[in-house]
Amino acid sequence: MKTTNIAIDGPAGAGKSSIAKEISSELGFIYVDTGALYRTVALFAQENCPDSDNELLERLDEIDIDLSFIGGTQRISLNGEDVTDDIRTPEISMGASRVSAIPEIREFLFDLQQRIAREHDVIMDGRDIGTVVLPDADLKIFLTASADERASRRYLELKEKADCPTFEEIKADIIKRDYNDSHRAVAPLKQADDAVLIDTTDMGFHEVCEEILDLIKERLDIEV
Ligand code: DC
Repeated sequence: MKTTNIAIDGPAGAGKSSIAKEISSELGFIYVDTGALYRTVALFAQENCPDSDNELLERLDEIDIDLSFIGGTQRISLNGEDVTDDIRTPEISMGASRVSAIPEIREFLFDLQQRIAREHDVIMDGRDIGTVVLPDADLKIFLTASADERASRRYLELKEKADCPTFEEIKADIIKRDYNDSHRAVAPLKQADDAVLIDTTDMGFHEVCEEILDLIKERLDIEV
């Protein structure tokens, strides 16, 4: 039976994951955060071969990534160890952006993403889901917001934590990652021709969810 696939792409901090989580739980779909895959490869590189991309490529067969979905929430493990929380650091964010530019790494993660979408109704978020991974997705959304707004949302999320970076540091990281992710040669971040653009700079969380749910009602033959 054909599964329903919804692709959400966009730059770092645009709200993809919180929106996708909310909508997938509303629809009973699983939510796949593909950034976590690149982050997990970056964690392996940080721990095992921080100085050499060649060594990382030689050791790709030592990387076993497993995704599980508990109550619709994704957990990710690297060689049997749950690393879901360990991959959420600024170093790993930047490392993920770096390793994601390597074509062999993208190829390494490609089949896994396509297989999950073949087997489940999914909302999958990332940078190249609508353009490369799921070009035939039933609905494609490109979610964006200004760099200031994205940095300030991230800052609000992080500010209670120890070692919270400053707003300026967060914004600089976001701008650097935007540049890396949209200028790499393979599968750069870009809006698919048939994606719906939603700029959330001046929108609240619920407003964005409503807009996407309306699109789903309009375009897909499923009950919302
Ligand atoms: O969504 P995120 O911030 O967790 O993603 C981390 C990095 O991984 C991001 O800077 C670019 C890369 N990425 C990618 O190249 N393609 C994807 N589909 C998802 C993430």
